[in-house]
Parts: sequence; C-alpha cells; structure tokens
Amino acid sequence: MSKQFDVIVIGAGPGGYIAAIRAAQLGMNVACIDEWKNSTGGPALGGTCTNVGCIPSKALLQSSEHFHHANHHFAEHGISASDVKMDVAKMVARKDTVVKQNNDGILYLLKKNKVSFFHGRGSFVKAGDGGYEIKVTGASEETLLGKQVIIATGSNARALPGTPFDEENILSNDGALRIGAVPKKLGLIGSGVIGLEMGSVWRRLGSEVTILEGLPTFLGAVDEQIAKEAKKAFDKQGLKIELGAIVGEIKIGKAGVSIAWTNAKGEALLLEVDKLIVSIGRVPNTTGLNADAVGLKLDERGAIVVDDLCQTNLPGVWAVGDVVRGPMLAHKAEEEGVAVAERMAGQHGHVNFNTIPWVIYTSPEIAWVGQTEQQLKVAGRAYKSGTFPFLANGRARALGDTTGMVKMLADATTDEILGVHIVGPMASELISECVVAMEFRASSEDIARICHAHPSLSEATKEAALAVDKRTLNF
Ligand code: FAD
Ligand code: NAI
Repeated sequence: MSKQFDVIVIGAGPGGYIAAIRAAQLGMNVACIDEWKNSTGGPALGGTCTNVGCIPSKALLQSSEHFHHANHHFAEHGISASDVKMDVAKMVARKDTVVKQNNDGILYLLKKNKVSFFHGRGSFVKAGDGGYEIKVTGASEETLLGKQVIIATGSNARALPGTPFDEENILSNDGALRIGAVPKKLGLIGSGVIGLEMGSVWRRLGSEVTILEGLPTFLGAVDEQIAKEAKKAFDKQGLKIELGAIVGEIKIGKAGVSIAWTNAKGEALLLEVDKLIVSIGRVPNTTGLNADAVGLKLDERGAIVVDDLCQTNLPGVWAVGDVVRGPMLAHKAEEEGVAVAERMAGQHGHVNFNTIPWVIYTSPEIAWVGQTEQQLKVAGRAYKSGTFPFLANGRARALGDTTGMVKMLADATTDEILGVHIVGPMASELISECVVAMEFRASSEDIARICHAHPSLSEATKEAALAVDKRTLNF
C-alpha cells in the first residue's frame, strides 16, 4: 500500500525544500525526496547550493579573503603579522562544518513544518487515478502516491566533450571545493561565475591561475562598463584571463594536466597545470526520474519544458529551479518553489524575472539587477545613466576598499529605474535596495530623495541616483 500525499517534491535543493515548506504551510500533506549523501552516507539536504555550490564556495572565499587581508592589507592599518600561513585542510574542514550546519538546518525545517522526508532517489512509476506513483530507492525504500508532484532535481556541471571529470585532476565544482593543498599552477576553463569565484580563492592563496575563456568578451552578460572595471581589478590581482581561447586536447600526466589551446591571435600554446577546473556551465539533471514512464517532456538541452507558471506537459506535475529554463540561481529556484506551492493552493504566486539579482562574489563583488546599457540600446529604449565611484565614498575609504562604482540606468522620460550595476565592496548587499526599488517601480529621483545613513556604502547608490539627474553632491 503506497503512502499518500497531496504533494511529492523530488529534490531538496533550494527549489525543492522551499516549495515543500511553503506547501506544508498552506495546509498540504507533503513528502520531499532527496538522494544526496554526506560522507557517512546520511542525508545531506540543500542540493548543489548547500553541498557543492553557493554555501561552500562562499566559505572558501571568506577564508581566502581573510588570508589575503592578513598578508596585504593589515600593514596599512598598523597591524604587523609576519609569517601568516594557511592551513588548507583546516579551511576545507571549516567549510565542511558550515555545509553540515546548513544540511542539518534544512532537515530541522522540514520536520518543523511536518514535511515527510525520504532519503533516496525518486522516480516515476506511473500516472494513475489518484495522481502519480513515485518509487523511492536508497536508504528509504517506499512507493508514494502524490496528487501533485514538484520536480526540483537541479543541475550538474557540464564536462568538456571527451574529458570527463575525475575530481582528482579534472575538477567540476565538486572537486574544486575539495582541493587539499594550494596548487602551484591552477587552470580553469570558462571565466564565468564559477571560474572567477574559484579562481579568486586559489589566487589569494598563492596559486598561479590561468583562465581560458572561449568568448572574445569578458563577462558578456554584465554591463560593459562594469565588466571592464572588474577585469582591471582581476588583472591587478594576477588572475590571468585569456579571452577568445580555443581549448584543444587535454592530457593527464604524472606532473599534472596539460591543455593544448589556441589564443585569440591564432597561436598554438600549451598550458601545464597541477589541477584543472572546468566551469563551462551546467546541464539540467533529470537522471533517475524515469521521465519516459509518464511522458514528461524535455527540451533539446535536457531541461524540463514548463510554461510561465512552471507547469509541465503533465497535469499536476510542476518543475522549478535549475532543471527548467531561466537563470541557474538559488534564489530564482526558491521563488519558483514558493510560487508553485501558492498556485497549488489557489493563490497567485508570481516570479518577476526582471528583478532577479545576480551577484559574483569576487573582490570586488559584482552585482546587478535589470537591464544593462547594451540591452537598452538594442531595445531602442531612451535612458539616462548615472555613475558614482566608491573612491568618493567616505565609508569605502575608511574600509580601504575603493575599487568600483554604482551605475544606475533610468528611463529618459519617466525616470523609472531600469537597471542598477555595481562593482565594488559589498555589492551583494547593496543590490537589495535596488531590487526593492525596481519591484516598487521607483524612479531614480525616489532613491535620490531617500535619506541614506552616513557613512555607508549605500550612499554611493544614492549618489548614482543623483548622478542620473547630473547633481551628485560628493563628486
Ligand atoms: P539543486 O540545488 O541542484 O538540488 C537538486 C537536488 O535534487 C539535489 O539535492 C539532488 O540530489 C536531488 N535529486 C536530483 N534527482 C533526484 C531524484 N531523482 N531523486 C531524489 N533526489 C534527486 N546560486 C546563487 O544564487 N548564488 C550563489 O552564490 C551560487 N553559487 C554557486 C556556486 C557553485 C560552485 C555552483 C555549482 C552553483 C552556485 N549557484 C549559486 C547555483 C545554485 O547552486 C543553483 O542555482 C541551485 O542550487 C539550484 O537549486 P535547485 O533546487 O534547482 O537544484
Ligand atoms: P557560466 O555560464 O557562468 O560561465 C561559463 C563560461 O564558460 C562562459 O563564459 C562561457 O563562455 C565559457 N565557456 C563555455 N564553453 C567553453 C569552452 N569550451 N571553452 C572555453 N570557455 C567556455 O557557468 P559556470 O561558471 O560553470 O557556472 C554555472 C552556473 O552556476 C552559473 O551560470 C550560475 O548560474 C551558477 N553560479 C552562480 C553563482 C553566483 O550566483 N554567485 C556562483 C557560481 C555559479
């Protein structure tokens, strides 16, 4: 006899566990299935984000930034610290502790909300009168029946054709977060978000880092002015980023990994490194779902096809997060999870794709929301632009972190904010004000008229808003 639920959620990453909690809050009887195992075989909830993504990468970024500060910035504050050493094993162990705290926190949250958790793989058996039969295999062995199903099975790292990840020499994000000693030479393929964040971690710890990027432009999705400013900072840090690179044969030898590649000038070169991280994007994960058993439709990329409401081609089956179209971001997955649970309860859950913020957690941080200047030009939209450099911000000077700027774009006629782009200190936090403003369809004048605390980095946002109207006060 199968256990019956109103909703079965497959996957306990940010999309799945949040959807499960919200559905339970709305009075549904919810099951959540996840197969991720920790080092002792127990459940490790939170998906890619918690186990091998957002959380562990930020833990390593924090540790490596402390190390960098101790070596390079303490002295200017009058602090002398000689012989500063990094114990990589301890840094990685701390990261593992942070991950475990999050894993356990999510399990607690499911219990608190009376969501039944099953540790194992969930796969479709068949569609029946009462809904969908889902088999769980693994630590839990059960057959469940759900009136409705939410698929939140996430994504996996994309490998280069013919070069599978061995997580020893050729690393995905998983292996990249478990490197046990500082590699003398580190290679990365792809200067996207993971390439820059992981490259920064190991560069700060002393690796010679080379990133081979296929495209001729740096961070093509980012506002050009911001990307240019960020590139200057990364060049200064010694992150070697080769644009327009064509990667050829990759060989693993006793001494490490050798990568044959051709540079933008067409010269054939060889890059020899101790470890190679391949960060060329991610592919949706539907392995193990047995999608064919119920006729679930996938697109040519392997993503589950959904409409604007996250409904699949099957009645009562929804899909959210990395396994569907749209940006592969934890907060996007969460918003979709909440919206789907609310739609199931007859409410009007909504995700505004235009106000999903992006953050790259390098130093300086890069964050943006809305449209870039290039997108506005292509769309033929008349706009005004205002920028303000952190160099002229008192708090940034006190912090000793004056790289970058805030750039605000507003409609030429209505003054509605169309996009905000930040490169600089705490851009990840500063962007929230801009997201709120855009959600409320604020004008740049609205931000300019709001009292911002002094001294604070957020004054740079206010000044960028004043700059839209050509009336900055501090620059
Ligand atoms: P996932 O988090 O991938 O979760 C899917 C879950 O489903 C997994 O636990 C998996 O085990 C489980 N599963 C899959 N199939 C089955 C099955 N058949 N049965 C049972 N369980 C199954 N995003 C940000 O917003 N900010 C960041 O700073 C950030 N940093 C990142 C850093 C790295 C290195 C990486 C790789 C990603 C990062 N991301 C970040 C992206 C973020 O991790 C993803 O967008 C997010 O995890 C997607 O959530 P999800 O719930 O869709 O899928
Ligand atoms: P990405 O899409 O950010 O970057 C991939 C890069 O690899 C691109 O610049 C692309 O041009 C390049 N590339 C692709 N094929 C190539 C090839 N054969 N040779 C050379 N270059 C090639 O993907 P990434 O960095 O793997 O990250 C995956 C996703 O994970 C991100 O898109 C993002 O959604 C998420 N993520 C989010 C983070 C955040 O929010 N801070 C942090 C890390 C990941």
